[in-house]
Amino acid sequence: MSQPTIESILQEKRTFSPNAEFSRDARIQSIEEYQKIYDRAAADPAAFWAELAERELHWFEKWDTILDWQPPVAKWFVGGKINISYNCLDRHLTTWRKNKAALIWEGEPGDSRTLTYAQLHREVCQMANVLKQLGVTKGDRVGLYMPMIPEAAIAMLACARIGAVHSVVFGGFSAEALRDRLSDGEAKLVITADGGYRKDAIVSLKAQVDKALANDAVPSVTNVLVVKRTGEAIDMESGRDRWWHDLQQTASADCPAEPMDSEDMLFILYTSGSTGKPKGVVHTTGGYNLYTHMTTQWTFDLKDTDVYWCTADVGWITGHSYIVYGPLSNGATSLMYEGVPRPSNPGCFWDVVEKYGVTIFYTAPTAIRAFIKMGEALPKARDLSSLRILGTVGEPINPEAWMWYHQVIGGERCPIVDTWWQTETGGFMLTPLPGATPTKPGSATLPFPGIIADVVDLDGNSVGDNEGGYLVVKHPWPSMMRTVYGDFDRFRRSYWEHIPPKDGKYVYFAGDGARRDEDGYFWVMGRVDDVISVSGHRLGTMEIESALVSHPAVAEAAVVGKPDDLKGESVVAFIILESNYTAGEELEKTLKQHVVSEIGAIARPGDIRFSDDLPKTRSGKIMRRLLRNLAAGEEITGDTSTLQDRSVLDKLREGA
Ligand code: WT7
Repeated sequence: MSQPTIESILQEKRTFSPNAEFSRDARIQSIEEYQKIYDRAAADPAAFWAELAERELHWFEKWDTILDWQPPVAKWFVGGKINISYNCLDRHLTTWRKNKAALIWEGEPGDSRTLTYAQLHREVCQMANVLKQLGVTKGDRVGLYMPMIPEAAIAMLACARIGAVHSVVFGGFSAEALRDRLSDGEAKLVITADGGYRKDAIVSLKAQVDKALANDAVPSVTNVLVVKRTGEAIDMESGRDRWWHDLQQTASADCPAEPMDSEDMLFILYTSGSTGKPKGVVHTTGGYNLYTHMTTQWTFDLKDTDVYWCTADVGWITGHSYIVYGPLSNGATSLMYEGVPRPSNPGCFWDVVEKYGVTIFYTAPTAIRAFIKMGEALPKARDLSSLRILGTVGEPINPEAWMWYHQVIGGERCPIVDTWWQTETGGFMLTPLPGATPTKPGSATLPFPGIIADVVDLDGNSVGDNEGGYLVVKHPWPSMMRTVYGDFDRFRRSYWEHIPPKDGKYVYFAGDGARRDEDGYFWVMGRVDDVISVSGHRLGTMEIESALVSHPAVAEAAVVGKPDDLKGESVVAFIILESNYTAGEELEKTLKQHVVSEIGAIARPGDIRFSDDLPKTRSGKIMRRLLRNLAAGEEITGDTSTLQDRSVLDKLREGA
């Protein structure tokens, strides 16, 4: 593992303090108050979390042990009985929130739906009974391949209610990617829709499911439950496929939540690692419930009057933790929007903010850069005065984009919460608390109370102020991933072995480079492994390379990221062809399309470069660092002494 590849040259000095009026009404009102909570939590993290778990969540039975830490195995609230669907739904029904909007949904074509807590509870119970009727029992895995419609959240909560483990696969992934994930998790049931709307076109989800399951490719799947969304014609395989609305008609709305062990698996979500196939990140119940609950409450300073909108897709962890579980556990109103800015309606996000009076808006730098490109006129034409907090996640936000967000969207009055976290962490790790933390554009600021974060070198020693190093977490936290599904050894290797334990103390290795400034603020610099961040989503280079090599024309492929104004990074593929193929535009197109059908549009190479050779070390490892320089059109500055054949670089440069 090399040092972080991104040198920190950023020296941002601007600081923005929360305004007095905002702080006065906030849950946590000053940096001193944050520091007090932080110090208390750091002194005894387990006691800190136990106090909150007791105060904030409903437990059917209390735990015996707060934390059982046998590195790298953490168990939280051992012996406790809990159900996250109960905490998200049932407990609100005995309060005035019973008829409060739980989900406000806006479809891309302009249709909309609001579900109160009582209505959402009813539909979740019905779907839970349907799952039971289809033979799904506690511990079974259920694959979800859904558009952004309320039924996606309903299906997740229904699984949680009966103790089934959901595995949501992003609706933009291809049939092949879906098949791999369903196989790895040995899903028993798949929940999908006929189709969904994206950028004024229909995405035919059910057809992709049919393709994924063709020839009995995933023998564990016995049924497919289909929600009618677009009404397009689809094939329904008799005996296997069932319409959700048919089964709902006769499904009882009485389905008590199953008391789960705190450590029972809640869901699997696949994420890219630097090598090999995607990792099935496993999250469990009690700790995840508590952590997403607390981070939503404090980072977004939740109030009962808030209309909270996270623009992520439920197919990502952001959708899991901060559209569904965190907000609903708090009894908040969570807005779900099916659409994305598109040529026919580039200002649609601001229409949604205005229409529903959104108060908290949480999105990604890639979206912010797209807004900037579309111009100020669009947001300026709408009334955005309801907004009071803005959030960002997914990749480092550059200070100028931060300033634009602050000025144009936030009207200079909304604190920006830049939240650093990962699929693996379950919830926010570094984040401002909006009434307390002075923000600096581009910094995710300080750790959430209870999180002991640091920047270290490869020996695990803390580096000095403003020195680059590896971002690590030094104490277990409730929503940390528990394992890679079916591969505990990979979990250990990926996260716990890069930095050797010191005096028996294990640290969690996040895979990001970072530095800490003189005020203790964290500046995350990006991934240090071979992972490309496209629109804030991690794509493993290995996966894209494998997809390319699966095409008969490709002998060898190396994939790197190249800085991209809009997407953060775009995919550049270096290709060595089999001898009976010739390079050219036609083949370039074919290969791009091949990646789309193997993985999905998100992984489409922006650029394909044909070559006779690739820069390799003497041991045969492709030197991606050099390819990254080439792709970005930069000078090659780093060490090339391990390179087997220097002339390869010159040839590649000439060919560019
Ligand atoms: C990686 C995790 C967590 C939901 C979205 C992506 C990068 C995430 C930030 C931020 C700088 C960030 C990191 C991290 N990242 N948030 N606020 N500042 N970098 O989830 O796919 O698991 O990716 O996204 O590199 O490791 P993910």
